[in-house]
Amino acid sequence: MSNDRTVFFTGGAGFIALHTIPLLLEKGYRVRIFDNMQRGDRAAVNALVATGNVELIEQDVRYGGAVHNAMKGCTHVIHFATVSINKSIADPYESIDINMVGNHNVFAAAADHGVQRLVFASSASVYGDPKKLPMHEDDRLNPLTPYCISKRAGEDLLGFYQRQKGLSWNALRFFNVYGPGQKIEAYYTSVINTFIQRLRSGQPPVIDGKGEQSMDFIHVTDLARGVVAALESERANMPINIGTGIDTSIAQLTKILIEAVGVDVEPIFNEREVLVSRRAADITRAREVLGWEPTITVEQGMRELVKMSA
Ligand SMILES: NC(=O)c1ccc[n+]([C@@H]2O[C@H](COP(=O)([O-])OP(=O)(O)OC[C@H]3O[C@@H](n4cnc5c(N)ncnc54)[C@H](O)[C@@H]3O)[C@@H](O)[C@H]2O)c1
Repeated sequence: MSNDRTVFFTGGAGFIALHTIPLLLEKGYRVRIFDNMQRGDRAAVNALVATGNVELIEQDVRYGGAVHNAMKGCTHVIHFATVSINKSIADPYESIDINMVGNHNVFAAAADHGVQRLVFASSASVYGDPKKLPMHEDDRLNPLTPYCISKRAGEDLLGFYQRQKGLSWNALRFFNVYGPGQKIEAYYTSVINTFIQRLRSGQPPVIDGKGEQSMDFIHVTDLARGVVAALESERANMPINIGTGIDTSIAQLTKILIEAVGVDVEPIFNEREVLVSRRAADITRAREVLGWEPTITVEQGMRELVKMSA
């Protein structure tokens, strides 16, 4: 095991990070988790720390000095620490502190320490409501909430530190991530858990409108491989979509979940006007730059999720 590559991983105790860290360890990286444990999974982190190749620094990205000190000796950075869209709407002040100032603290420290690569978790929500599908990285951005605005600003700040100090980065625009370990209140994908719970108790899922609104559901295992690929790719310094390229409507998702749970119910359609938003990623760039390809279909992923939550 080589000791000379250490990843500084903010938000390293969260849902997606906990799927990514085992892949990093397999590749011989050491990992320094930097997380305030507001939403972190302490038991999972303790198990990782027990491997001897992971350490936890329980601190907050809002403190620039703490970030700078803790990053000493690290060769790579993955920046995930954030507060969610819902919270950013409810409390924009906190969101700007964590998502905007926090981003800057991490990027500035990475530039100062001369790390080899920084990977930033951006989001498909930087596009706002897309005018066309699939959504391409060069499409017009229209971030609508403090969370989305900070993701977009984060990408721009990375460009600044690249020009100013030669920082090498990739910003991954994650689409609708799902999989084991996800918190139930996840902004877009909470519909999955709500529907599974209703189906389990024999109740039909309730769909607003005709269920035409769609998402690009990307399984967290596939996504985690994309994060590692972005840490190691030859080409860098760009935003890259990470999705499947397939938009699954809420009506289709419901069918998939009914089949996966194995119950004989029909969804209830709550007839009302809904804003039909749709999402699907153009993943040409991820294929070309990262050599990355999603492998888990939404049917497989949902079946597995239902089995695991049984
Ligand atoms: N889950 C999705 O569908 C999705 C979609 C697009 C983008 N993303 C992005 O991916 C990244 C990871 O998301 P996730 O779903 O794993 O989130 P998560 O909430 O499970 O993990 C975030 C982690 O950050 C930590 N954290 C929060 N505030 C902090 C602070 N001030 N200082 C230090 N640590 C702090 C939390 O304790 C938590 O462990 C985030 O940047 C998120 O914006 C997620």
